[in-house]
Amino acid sequence: MRNIKPIKSIGKNLKGKAVLIRVDFNVPIKDGKVEDDFRIVKVLPTIKFLEKKGAKVILITHLGKGGDTLLPIAKALNKFIKAKFVPEITGPKVLEVISEMKNGDVILLENLRNDKGEKERSKIFALELSKLAEIYVNDAFPVSHREDASIVLLPKLLPAYGGLQMEEEIKNLSRAFKKPKHPFLFILGGAKFSTKMPLIKKYLKLADCVFIGGALANDFLKARGHEVGQSLVSDTNFGITEILKSKKLILPSDVMVQSGNKLINKKTNQVKKDEIILDIGKETIENLVPLIKKSKLILWNGPLGKYEDGGAEGTKNVLKLVPASNAESIVGGGDTVALISAMKIEKKFSFVSTGGGATLDFLANGTLPGIKALE
Ligand code: 3PG
Repeated sequence: MRNIKPIKSIGKNLKGKAVLIRVDFNVPIKDGKVEDDFRIVKVLPTIKFLEKKGAKVILITHLGKGGDTLLPIAKALNKFIKAKFVPEITGPKVLEVISEMKNGDVILLENLRNDKGEKERSKIFALELSKLAEIYVNDAFPVSHREDASIVLLPKLLPAYGGLQMEEEIKNLSRAFKKPKHPFLFILGGAKFSTKMPLIKKYLKLADCVFIGGALANDFLKARGHEVGQSLVSDTNFGITEILKSKKLILPSDVMVQSGNKLINKKTNQVKKDEIILDIGKETIENLVPLIKKSKLILWNGPLGKYEDGGAEGTKNVLKLVPASNAESIVGGGDTVALISAMKIEKKFSFVSTGGGATLDFLANGTLPGIKALE
């Protein structure tokens, strides 16, 4: 990977310059209110850096699949910085607002995905966006695995830089595959075996142990011939038998199952046809304790249980164990990070990634389309 240009290299001449910052404010919203502002907080340093240099800061982001307004985001953002919301994306009205901006002003434009040009990677849409500013900054790591117009086309039309959070993500996540510390424990949860297979294969080589939890573990248990009842399993698990042979692979030895309306702790080979695996069991957590303690590097992505249905305890308990060790800890994945946010323990980890799918892709491939576009 070649180097991306950091914003600190833009130079002194930022006063009065219009700078477009592609951020990822795709955050959970309930009843018109932002539920988790982690992604907003994480890009404030970039916004403030440019604001202090006297730039005219124009923030652009997507939210959901399109069709939603960014008004709730604008409200959440204004708890931290003064930013005017402009309910349009491109065009004469936006240009007029920008022409009236003072040095150090910040504005937020409407949801990029409300224009189909964003997802369709339209050159015309990218061109319209490029007319708004003189400089482009990508601080939207969580969406940089998408080849959307504002991610891969726009940086080709303006001088392009990587934001401060983008730099942090690249630097910290790279520790997992560039000369990682040992013993190295990789904890992987969540679902969808097929999308995670390249990652598992790669980290079975790089790490000393790979612990699999969450719905992903159901696929492995099933492939080992265990009954998994009504538990969530992947449609396809092609290649799983090969992975099962690895001595580095660790699977849960017990699980919490929903049996009727009861939650029961049982061995993985005792699950019945009508039961649902919701979480890892107590013995599995106990077995992880010495492994976590002796690790020098722990990389974690994805929840270890079906947390939305009462299977959050395993993830929460293991999340508490990780910072208690001396290991460098790198955590990613939307659901895991949401739990960390709710538990207010973010500062206890060496690095918490803002990405979900982007983090997985970066860990698997060492780069992302949005990063390549900045090089
Ligand atoms: C995310 O939340 O993972 C990013 O914002 C990307 O969103 P998307 O999966 O809708 O492209």
